[in-house]
Parts: sequence; C-alpha cells; structure tokens
Amino acid sequence: MTAYQQARDEALGDPEAFWMRESARIDWMEPPTRALDSSAAPLYRWFPGAWLNTCANALDRHVTAGRGARIAIQYDSPVTGTKRAITYDELLDDVSRFADVLATLGVGYGDRVLIYMPMIPEAVVAMLACARLGAVHSVVFGGFAPAELAVRVDDATPTVVVTASCGIEPSRVIPYKPLLDEALVLARHVPAATVVLQRPQVVAELGDRDVDWSVAMSAARPRAAVPVRATDPLYILYTSGTTGKPKGVVRDNGGHAVAMAWSFDAVYGMGPDDVWWAASDVGWVVGHSYIVYAPLIVGATTVLYEGKPVGTPDAGAFWRVVDEYGVSALFTAPTAIRAVRKEDPDALLLAHYDVSSLRGLFLAGERLDPDTYHWATDHLGVPVIDNWWQTETGWPIAANLRGLDPMPIKPGSPTVAVPGYDVRIVDGEGTELPAGQDGAIVIRLPLPPGTLPTLWGDDQRYVDSYLSVFEGCYTTGDGGYVDEDGYVYVMGRTDDVINVAGHRLSTGAMEAVVATHPLVAECAVIGVHDDLKGQVPRAFVVLKSGVEIDPAVLQRQIVTAVRDQIGPVAALKEVVIVPGLPKTRSGKILRRTMRGIADGRPELVPSTIEDVRVLDAISHLLTGGGQGGEPPPRP
Ligand code: COA
Ligand code: AMP
Repeated sequence: MTAYQQARDEALGDPEAFWMRESARIDWMEPPTRALDSSAAPLYRWFPGAWLNTCANALDRHVTAGRGARIAIQYDSPVTGTKRAITYDELLDDVSRFADVLATLGVGYGDRVLIYMPMIPEAVVAMLACARLGAVHSVVFGGFAPAELAVRVDDATPTVVVTASCGIEPSRVIPYKPLLDEALVLARHVPAATVVLQRPQVVAELGDRDVDWSVAMSAARPRAAVPVRATDPLYILYTSGTTGKPKGVVRDNGGHAVAMAWSFDAVYGMGPDDVWWAASDVGWVVGHSYIVYAPLIVGATTVLYEGKPVGTPDAGAFWRVVDEYGVSALFTAPTAIRAVRKEDPDALLLAHYDVSSLRGLFLAGERLDPDTYHWATDHLGVPVIDNWWQTETGWPIAANLRGLDPMPIKPGSPTVAVPGYDVRIVDGEGTELPAGQDGAIVIRLPLPPGTLPTLWGDDQRYVDSYLSVFEGCYTTGDGGYVDEDGYVYVMGRTDDVINVAGHRLSTGAMEAVVATHPLVAECAVIGVHDDLKGQVPRAFVVLKSGVEIDPAVLQRQIVTAVRDQIGPVAALKEVVIVPGLPKTRSGKILRRTMRGIADGRPELVPSTIEDVRVLDAISHLLTGGGQGGEPPPRP
C-alpha cells in the first residue's frame, strides 16, 4: 500500500485517529479529546471542547522556540520600490500592539473586523491581530467597488474597519478611503471606527470616526493571545455564488490550523526552513491560507508581493523574486503563467536569474490547460503541480501530494483526492458514475477539518446551497470525472459562477447590474473562453422594443455600470446586442446551453433540449456575435 493509499483510507475510515494524530502539529491551550462532532449533522464541527489561539500558533510559538530572528515575511513591492524583511520577533510585536489598537476601539472576542487593504504587511498584521483577540476578520479584495463592500459590511456588521489610504495598480494609484467612505454611506450598518494606514502615495482625509494607524500604534501596548474555542470562527471570506448576494464562507480556528499545518507539509512539501511564495492576494482564499496562515503556522518565510508579477515595472518578477529570496516553491494561477508566456514566449528572462532553489510550481484557481502546463514544465524543469480547491474548502480537494507521496503527473488533472475528501462523481439523480464518466463532482460528508462549517449567520443557506442537491454530499459546483487510476479531472463549473484571471465572479451579480440599464429589456451574462484570463464575461442584451442606441455607447455605459457597481475586477468588457435570448418552454434563459456553445464544448449541452432549431439560433448568436442576426425561434 502506498503512503497515499494508507493516509486516504485512514482519513476516511478512521477520521478520529487520523486527525487526532495530525492535531499534534498545533499548540493547544486545551488539547482536543476528540476530532469530529457529528451531533448536528449535516453541520459537522472539528475538535469540540479544544481551545487554542491561531495567532499564537502563527507567531508566539516560533518566538518561544527561539526562531524569532527568522524572517516571517519578505515584503517585495516593485510598485512602490520597497522591500522589507520582517522577522517573527518584529511581526509578533506589530501584531500584539495592533491587537491593542483594535481592543481599545472596542473589538473583543467574536466581534468582526473588516479589512480592505492592498498587499502590504499591515494587512497580515491586521488579520493576525484579530485572531489574537478572538475577533473575526473579513478581508475584502481591493478590486471590489463600494456597493460590493457595503453588502459585506451589512452582512458581517464589523465593529471596526481597517484600510489603507490607497492601493497601487501598475496603471494607477487607487485611493481606497473614498471608496470605503462611499460604501459606508451605502451600508446600513455603522462601524464604530475606521483605522487608516496612510501611505506616502496618497494621504487620506480623516473624519471623526477615523483613526490614524501610526498614531494609534505609537500609543499601543502588546496584548496577549486569548484562548478561543477550536470551533469559534477565525474569519469570514465572501465569495461569489450564483446570485448577486455573496456567500460568507466561515472558517473555524482549530480545524483550520490543523489543516493548514498538515497541507503545507503533505500537499506542498514545505517546512519551517522553506521560503514560500503564493503570488495571489490576501483578498482571496489562496492569500488567506497560503500567503498568511499555513506558512506562518509552520514557521516558514512567506513572500508578500505587491504588484503584478508580469508587465511593468518588473517583467521578470517571478524569476527575480525566486532568485532574490531563494524561493523553494511558487504558487500562482495558470493565468499568471499565461501572461508571462505571452510577454516572454521563449522564457528568455529566465536566463537572467538563478532559480535553482525552486522545487516546484503550484497552480490553482482555474483549470490548468495542458499547453500552459507543458510550457512551464519545459522552461522551469521542476514539477508543475495543479491543485483543485475552492474558497469553501480552504485547502486542496485534489492534489499531487508532494510531501506525502509524489505521484506521476497527468496533464489536465490536479491528480488524486486529498486524504479527508471523499470525492464522488454523480449524475443528475445522484447516482454514482463509474470511472471515466463525466458528472457533478460532490464530496461525501463530513468534509475534513478546515473546510467551511457553515455560511456566516445562515446555516439554512449553507444547507440549501451545498448540502441539499445530493443526499449526504457537499456539492462543489464543478463538473468532471475520475479516471481508472483515481485521477480527478475538473472540467468547469456547472453553475453560473465564472473564473476570470483566477478570480471567482458571479454572472448573476453582473446580470443584475446590466438589467438596470434603462434600455435593456433582458440580458444574460456568460463566461466565454479567453486565451489569457481563462474566461471573460460577455453580456448578451435584448433592447426594449422600439428603442435604438449606438452599440458602442451602450457597451460603454454597461461596462462603466459594472465597474462602478461590482468593481474593475469583474472585467466585463464585451456587450452584444441580440434580438432575443434562447429560452426553455417555461421561459428560463438557457445559460448553460449558451455557455457550452460559447466554450466550444457542445458536449455540455443538456440532452433535454429537443428543439435543434433553438441550438442553431444560439450558435449563431454566440459564434456570429448576434448583431443584426435573425431572432432565435421560440420553442
Ligand atoms: N485593487 C483595485 N483594482 C484591481 C485590483 C485591486 N487589488 N486587482 C485588480 N484590479 C483591477 C485591475 O487594475 C484591472 O483594471 P483595468 O480593467 O482598469 O485594467 C481589473 O481589476 C482586472 O484585473 P485583472 O483581472 O487582474 O487583470 P489584469 O489584466 O490587470 O492582469 C493578470 C491579469 C493575469 C496578470 C493578473 O490577474 C494576475 O497576475 N493574476 C494572478 C492570479 C491571481 O492572483 N489569482 C488569484 C487566485 S490564485
Ligand atoms: P475560488 O473559490 O475563488 O477558489 O474558486 C473555486 C473554483 O475555481 C472552483 O470551484 C473551480 O471551478 C475553479 N478551480 C480552482 N482550482 C482549479 C483547478 N485546479 N482546476 C480546475 N478548476 C479550478
């Protein structure tokens, strides 16, 4: 039996033994006496009765163990021309004093703190300071607009918001404070205070409820880590669902700490002496798990990179950073590698750097296309490892376990189900499908530690959205198959969630904005293939009868509305006027069918559609652009 088979069988057959053993990776204030609590199934909890502090595991214990001089964060910011190495000693000092700042502003155990910050060390400081107090952070990605921010403020009802005066995109400086102020006008909930880190590029105007980060820190005293229950929430991370209302994915403290420590070792093969670079953003789950928590809990060095790893000002950034800090492994999204390839097809920039420290390149966030896999493998000469997971799970569902038991790579597959995840493929009725057959990918309950126990304040929505479609299973929302060797293949979402440059977005949210245009009668937004970003959204709009507008003007107006309401990250650039939208007999827009054709994957077209003429019309709309075409026949 291989090490993988042994771990898989034990994690599924005897999860108590498996996870109790792995829980020893964590310092507990009150150690667990059992792993799984099934008493409220299908809502499961891990390590009931145990107490710990996640921040103490990420910082204090390394300092106590004499590793305080080790570099915790290598901050590298070509967009500001700044580099800073922060030791565990220094990070602990900053975090414990910022915890005091938050506590002085009224943040206590269980209170929420919303963090709207760019990729700077203070974002990590704010996250860990919350964990230190037993408060719950909710980080919102900087590319979201005020309206999206307001929805999250109202759902999480934070006591305090932490922000910076600006974020820096390669093309422009983005003042964050006015965006936040606008969000707080839109929101019903009023936080008690906002802490603002002033950056030299933009000085934010401070109002009555605003506190200057540096001023507050200069008066702060270090705060000790408070004990929290393993089952208490550590953070809420909002993610796109099929509707406009984002889902507040909850992460607990105990199960998460164990899963981070275990996966960093077993999946990524990383340890305390490694320098690790997850080139994502703290606003996404990859940033939470693998920029912040996993590397720090294990005591490694994490690279915090502010900027795009391609284009100006740092075209060879990936290789430069690997060389400069001796990075052991790099983790990013396939789209970033495609962007590098586009700029430097023969990887000539690689020759300028010494990347011999690199043991692997990990890619996730979207499907790793075999072309990109081969390009990276050929040029880097190290294993290129796909891994499949989602905000909800917090760590990989399928991976090639580099630490536990490396396996041969099959391009197109993120390899096997990770121990703890009972991955099954089912048809529409929930019947399990044999190897090689395409279906919905589900995971039999319980999910392992570190995965979402629920959605914030809404157990019922969690059950309805994820646990009710297939009996006893968590629905991933992805479709795919498992081959004879147990290799998982993830082919794409089966719902209206799309993935743009590794960013997860809801087409439903975009449709809600497009539909507010006064000339639009109805619309559908679907994801279409894009060579660089994997997918981009395209809006199909039907105008109200009798109205006319220059398509370019309409496009501009709709693109602006989506940027203003959702944010630039939505990346909606294409708007097509069509004479009608294909519908079912009951009037539902056939988005899934449109998607299948737009992707060039007509095999996704459901067999339930009898009317071939409808499909012909849709193909015409999607492939011919639809402008001025024949109206599709109504079934
Ligand atoms: N704050 C404000 N705006 C932001 C932002 C942020 N944190 N992040 C992105 N945006 C804006 C961008 O400036 C861009 O605006 P524009 O339309 O005015 O140019 C828009 O949102 C879209 O950004 P993005 O999707 O990142 O596209 P891009 O063309 O700027 O860059 C890549 C493309 C592939 C280089 C980039 O997405 C990348 O490096 N991705 C890495 C993968 C990643 O981080 N994945 C996360 C999960 S692993
Ligand atoms: P997010 O919650 O933002 O991490 O997005 C999760 C979704 O991204 C998944 O449900 C998949 O659709 C997609 N995804 C993530 N990683 C992969 C991967 N390795 N292969 C295919 N799709 C992926």
